[in-house]
Amino acid sequence: MPRQPNASATPAPEHGFVARLLHWFDDHGRHDLPWQHPRSPYRVWLSEIMLQQTQVATVIPYFHRFLQHFPTLPDLAAASNDAVMAQWAGLGYYARARNLHAAAKRCVSEHGGDLPRDFDALHDLPGIGRSTAGAILSQAWNDPFAILDGNVKRVLSRYHGVEGFPGLPAVEKQLWAIAEAQVAQVPAGRMADYTQAQMDLGATVCSRSRPACVICPLQADCVARREGRTAELPTAKPSKVLPEREAVALLLRDKQQRVLLQKRPDTGIWAQLWTLPQADAGSELQDWFDVHVDGSLEDAEELPVLQHTFSHYKLHLQVLSRQVHGLRVEEPTLRWVDDAELSALGLPAPIRKLLDGTPIKAPKRTSAKSRNHE
Ligand code: ADE
Ligand code: SF4
Repeated sequence: MPRQPNASATPAPEHGFVARLLHWFDDHGRHDLPWQHPRSPYRVWLSEIMLQQTQVATVIPYFHRFLQHFPTLPDLAAASNDAVMAQWAGLGYYARARNLHAAAKRCVSEHGGDLPRDFDALHDLPGIGRSTAGAILSQAWNDPFAILDGNVKRVLSRYHGVEGFPGLPAVEKQLWAIAEAQVAQVPAGRMADYTQAQMDLGATVCSRSRPACVICPLQADCVARREGRTAELPTAKPSKVLPEREAVALLLRDKQQRVLLQKRPDTGIWAQLWTLPQADAGSELQDWFDVHVDGSLEDAEELPVLQHTFSHYKLHLQVLSRQVHGLRVEEPTLRWVDDAELSALGLPAPIRKLLDGTPIKAPKRTSAKSRNHE
């Protein structure tokens, strides 16, 4: 490929990344992790599975104990499920142990008792995804396969200024392409170190909330560092824009200052809780009022609109407050409740807050004492 006259002065970004990272790793990376001595395929595999959801410091004693009980892959395959689970107990995410055991049995029956040195065959085993397969092949055999775990996604998005939430398929695809282009620059015999170096940099220097750019080997050409965007990269998971709904609720009090509550149906939002009678539109509520109450909603007091966010929509609840004299309550789902009873009923949190905090605008009310039962 023809070169620009000055291009040789600046190394290609991939080259800069790989060379600087490996140089840093030699002096500052972790070289004393138990799975590095020796780096056998079985030990690397076991460590990668244990490290999937768990920190290095927690994993180390489990790693040693597990190997004492199951020194080789065939030993693991031959063990009982109980024995395997017993050695995993306390590490959590037990599907990892079940998959590990199942994968060991398959290695015995299909691959001669060893882990296969083949990407597709490894990836096909239970519990081994694309990044884990790359981590095993690169660390166990120095084969040129990329990894892309959470740490690496963070480092790559910052260094290359990749926009977009890394969990999105299109962004992930872009990051894999970058990771693979960089792997092509790794000198022979250094893939294991390169894989470990990326994990170490992500864990110790380019951390999530406080990246130590001033000591980072990549600082000279890191986009996030240059543009002061380490806090914005990687892009956070997009928050869902929720649909909005409006409803009207009635806060009715009778002469004894009891409040009228309605029990919600067995399903849906606020299921089985007691709340204010509520309707989606004011007119529906007027109909209800006409049937049950002598009077009109015209002179009801409008309380400040309550905002409440459910998982799938945002509710704006207009509460109308009024004292009523006559009310025809027949439905078993409706009930006049005094302050003492209120504390024993299940109410949605925003409604309970409203009832706790709403001074009752009844002229005859003289004391707030009874409200202290809450
Ligand atoms: N997380 C996953 N693999 C790791 C490794 N080899 N070293 C440190 N953390 C890791
Ligand atoms: Fe991460 Fe800062 Fe290094 Fe960029 S310079 S890779 S943001 S630690």
